Amino acid sequence: MTANHNSFQAAILQGIPTTLPPKHQFPAGVNRAPKRKDILSKEEKHLAIRNALRYFPKKWHAELGLEFAEELQDYGRIYMYRFKPNYKLHARPLSDYPAQSQQAAALMLMIQNNLDPAVAQHPEELITYGGNGAVFQNWAQYTLCMHYLAQMTDEQTLHLYSGHPMGLFPSSKNAPRVVVTNGMMIPNYSKPDDWEKFNALGVTQYGQMTAGSFMYIGPQGIVHGTTITLLNAFRKILQPDENSGGKIFLTAGLGGMSGAQPKAGNICGCITICAEVNPKAATKRHQQGWVDLLIDTLDKLVIRVRTAQKNKEVVSIAYIGNVVAVWERFDQEDIQIHLGSDQTSLHIPWTGGYYPVSLSYEEANLMLQENPDAFKKEVQKSLRRHAAIIQKHTDKGTYFFDYGNAFLLEAARAGADIMAENKIDFKYPSYVQDILGPLCFDYGFGPFRWVCASGKKVDLDRTDAIALAVLEEINTTAPPEIQMQLQDNIRWIREAKKNKMVVGSQARILYADAEGRMKIAAAFNTAIANNTIGPVVLGRDHHDVSGTDSPYRETSNIYDGSKFTADMAIHNVIGDSFRGATWVSIHNGGGVGWGEVMNGGFGMLLDGSPEAAERLKSMLFYDVNNGVARRSWARNEEAIFAIQREMDRTPQLKVTLPNLVDDALLKKLF
Ligand SMILES: NC(=O)c1ccc[n+]([C@@H]2O[C@H](COP(=O)([O-])OP(=O)(O)OC[C@H]3O[C@@H](n4cnc5c(N)ncnc54)[C@H](O)[C@@H]3O)[C@@H](O)[C@H]2O)c1
Repeated sequence: MTANHNSFQAAILQGIPTTLPPKHQFPAGVNRAPKRKDILSKEEKHLAIRNALRYFPKKWHAELGLEFAEELQDYGRIYMYRFKPNYKLHARPLSDYPAQSQQAAALMLMIQNNLDPAVAQHPEELITYGGNGAVFQNWAQYTLCMHYLAQMTDEQTLHLYSGHPMGLFPSSKNAPRVVVTNGMMIPNYSKPDDWEKFNALGVTQYGQMTAGSFMYIGPQGIVHGTTITLLNAFRKILQPDENSGGKIFLTAGLGGMSGAQPKAGNICGCITICAEVNPKAATKRHQQGWVDLLIDTLDKLVIRVRTAQKNKEVVSIAYIGNVVAVWERFDQEDIQIHLGSDQTSLHIPWTGGYYPVSLSYEEANLMLQENPDAFKKEVQKSLRRHAAIIQKHTDKGTYFFDYGNAFLLEAARAGADIMAENKIDFKYPSYVQDILGPLCFDYGFGPFRWVCASGKKVDLDRTDAIALAVLEEINTTAPPEIQMQLQDNIRWIREAKKNKMVVGSQARILYADAEGRMKIAAAFNTAIANNTIGPVVLGRDHHDVSGTDSPYRETSNIYDGSKFTADMAIHNVIGDSFRGATWVSIHNGGGVGWGEVMNGGFGMLLDGSPEAAERLKSMLFYDVNNGVARRSWARNEEAIFAIQREMDRTPQLKVTLPNLVDDALLKKLF
């Protein structure tokens, strides 16, 4: 064992250090989080410092008080940089962690993966993705959490309140080792500025989805999801004798998640044009090989697109500039856009998530700092113009869908002509309404993922092979309704290694239903028992069948009025917690914004034991079928089929099914 290794273990075991560490030196070139809003009053700033100093002995308060006040002034938050550990943060093999409980060690591995500078967006500020997706609020919370995990036994549970480790409580072997809540607010305190304020006070955080639940696996997840979405979007618009060759997909954003769009476009075989206002973001994606070409004028773009169309090229183009300008120019040039979408960060429209077309990138950044109210007006004007030009294209046959970035919601709030005639729905579907909901979620298909806790590539290859064999076997007897979903994922897993998307931990994603997830997990557990592979951590994205209530995204295809409720996500987290999850989490916030979504997830360590075999069956069954049952009660035809099929093979499952009412009867009533 090396000295480094010993000091890593010793630092974890120590927890909050007993001597004050030196001031933090920031590594060169690291991507830092933007300065947050200066929102606290003087009294509230006192409270924020008082709160931060709770983690440390009194003798340090004078020195740390000054330092934290500076952090609050300079960054709008107290990150406690000085307490960032010296050791490298990355997913180590499970056996490297100092732990009494293997389940606790699995959590340490996943936490460190989310903070790995190769994985995380702003690693110094403990942000994994999405600009604000926090693992912890500050380094004291991280240090304390790792310390508790190292000590805990399989008969204790650690409770985390928005990153704050409240403590270890006695529980039992069958209980989760960790329970995570992020951003849980009294509903009236869930406006965007409430997040700014209570996060600055150090009492809550924005966990996004897989950031605060320790289940992020880098860009692979989003590439898979975007590929499935685009494949099916093309299936919707193409004639049986057509393919996507030479067809155009226009969208925006080359940031954290949106950067997946050109790669997915290439996998689907079309011409992708992705506008990005930030030249740095566009260049970075180009250098990383996520997009084929960089073009910086509309004239050049038009010429290149026409050539690509003529030659039916599979090519992805980053246009450095505003997406609204591309939509408008393509209208003037009469260039047919087949698929249109948008992935600017409209879940945070006023703080730089969306750049208005009336301003250059530099002008916009200046106005954002100097006159945020004027900036907001420009954003709203731009959204109205954006919606108007999309309408012109959809009139000419473009299929436009909202890709879960709150585009339709914010455009509507800005007064754009974007509502359907019934004044309830939007004119355009969200990708969940038209694609992922009916084709995947309603049948129970969603983003199942796993991490090989040995850290070995060969284990990932073996798990890929196991998963492929299981899906192929299921496909031999699957009903026609789900064969396409199985085949898409069989193709994906066969080619997954070739796409080289593993960053950080040895992880894989695929979409599977309850049967697929349970059978794959059981086969992994057997392989672990036989020593063919090491332990495996199972999990999923929160963006799934049952984990997330989000009326404009995951549950946008719920039409019985219940899409504004969050019972499903809450049942899911409670249900998973007593059915064998190693950890569970429930968050306010996520892709569409604070107050707009409740989402939850889980992690489960497979160690090859008979207990793990029982846990995976019980928990994965509920984790998927909870949502299928709710979708079926909402009268979704595909979900009624799926839950009926599940009841036929599982006698203990008894779900309330809806009776359908004739339209004619209703029309007579009012
Ligand atoms: N559907 C899904 O599964 C899914 C998954 C992840 C994220 N999202 C959502 O997608 C959005 C983007 O996520 P991200 O992680 O890529 O965010 P990001 O902030 O890293 O990237 C967005 C990019 O859009 C660019 N941009 C903003 N306005 C523009 C404009 N008018 N024209 C051209 N470019 C513009 C920004 O410069 C930025 O680089 C978020 O709202 C997120 O919640 C959806």
